[in-house]
Amino acid sequence: MQNSGGSQPNNSCDIGVIGLGVMGKNLALNLADHGYQVACFDLDAKRIDAIVAQDRNENGADSTRIVPVHTLEALRSSLVSPAVILLSIPAGKPVDMVCEQLIAAGIDSEDVIIDTGNSLWSDSVAREQRFADKFLFFTTAVSGGEVGARFGPSLMPSGSEKAWERVGPMLRAIAAKVDAETGKPIETATPGEPVKHGEPCAAYIGPNGAGHYVKMVHNGIEYADMQLICEAYQIMRVALGMSPGEIAAVFRRWNQGPLDSYLIEISAEVLDQQDPETQQPLVDVILDKAGMKGTGLWTAVSALQTGSPAQTIAQAVFARSLSALKSERVEAAKVLAGPEVAEVNEAQREAVINQLEHALYCSKICAYAQGFQLMNAAAQEQGWTLHFAEIAKIWRAGCIIRAVFLQSISNAFDRDINLPNLLVDPFFAEQIATYQADWRATVALSAVQGVACPAMMSALSYYDSYRTAVLPANLLQGQRDFFGAHTFSRTDKPAAEKYHIEWSDPSRPLQLI
Ligand code: 6PG
Repeated sequence: MQNSGGSQPNNSCDIGVIGLGVMGKNLALNLADHGYQVACFDLDAKRIDAIVAQDRNENGADSTRIVPVHTLEALRSSLVSPAVILLSIPAGKPVDMVCEQLIAAGIDSEDVIIDTGNSLWSDSVAREQRFADKFLFFTTAVSGGEVGARFGPSLMPSGSEKAWERVGPMLRAIAAKVDAETGKPIETATPGEPVKHGEPCAAYIGPNGAGHYVKMVHNGIEYADMQLICEAYQIMRVALGMSPGEIAAVFRRWNQGPLDSYLIEISAEVLDQQDPETQQPLVDVILDKAGMKGTGLWTAVSALQTGSPAQTIAQAVFARSLSALKSERVEAAKVLAGPEVAEVNEAQREAVINQLEHALYCSKICAYAQGFQLMNAAAQEQGWTLHFAEIAKIWRAGCIIRAVFLQSISNAFDRDINLPNLLVDPFFAEQIATYQADWRATVALSAVQGVACPAMMSALSYYDSYRTAVLPANLLQGQRDFFGAHTFSRTDKPAAEKYHIEWSDPSRPLQLI
């Protein structure tokens, strides 16, 4: 732990951080706030100077909390043995390259390397195998952006239990904390005064790959949650003719109820922001082309591959893709007809806003239900034991999707550890039963008014499909058998028995295949 000052002896730092971009720098300062002495390395020496300067500025010129190192060899020799090194570098090839360089720099088989990037989960599995006899490869996915990294992120650690025993105390220390009584985040934003009480938002997820899978799904849910909020905004903006400031006020009101979440909070702030150049609402001058780094896309791909219906998450990815076709949309807007729009008058507006709040809530329940259902499917495929009540708990603070609502999800999995879908939990089933009429009215309004709300509509279809005992997949199976002799099962025979009918001559007996 920290020295009181003076020059820095070798082998005394508790942890090394490689990569001092926004996330790495803030994780290093967070570790230092919790009493760990941190050796810091980056290929860009200016970043090393910057973190040292920031630390000395905050903690005095003789602070030794941050130890600058300029080579990987120096990094290794500055650390206690066995060493712990945290990587905060771009996902993909850079992680493999730095691991190789660390081997060359002399790390040994007892050292732990922790990858904190948004790595593809299957890369993490492969890396553990690849580096098995070189060092202990561990991962902790991090959510919470810059502020989270500095004052408490949500962490999803996974890898060998031996490594977790070593790094668990550090990760639990720097994680966001939740008040055990209220389930709400214990906030701080004061350097040097970290939160040390409460429940940490860091729990061991499972073997390597599991943590990054869970983070990937977190991001898929993040995409859906953001898209749903954007659709609520668009309905208020277009169908109700409200200004960004008026919509911000509605979001602030919603943030007092079951929608209370970080994403609603920041959406209100974004809508209230003025453009310093034109003095218009900033949102009106932000180009409507969404970017993405890919984790939501990975979630949708994984949902398709595992056969897990996560259509609201996928719709959120498609919505970003469609937004990116800006020039095509501008041209299409000139030629494609929409409906005649009946104005919603002042008296109807409040009622529509109330319905919209409930529509957003029900849609959000479905998006989260899809995310947990997907994790469940992946866990079965990979042989992971995921503790969904714990996962919901570590998302209550620190991460981008933090919300009061996560406590209800955690409670649902506490009630029934084998819950197949959040929708059938008694609490959520009752919530949707109560609000579904408003949800349907909102989706109908958007259809009639021609305001696209793909995520909300898909969520409603997901709900209606999931609660339907007999879907038209019977007809579909008939079609498949008709043109391709793909066979079908019968409702009155064991499902494993496959039948084919001679469609051109139905008088012939069914064949049991
Ligand atoms: C988080 C976020 C973060 C993600 C950004 C950008 O949990 O802190 O999920 O990991 O990288 O939100 O993601 P997109 O660029 O794909 O929107």
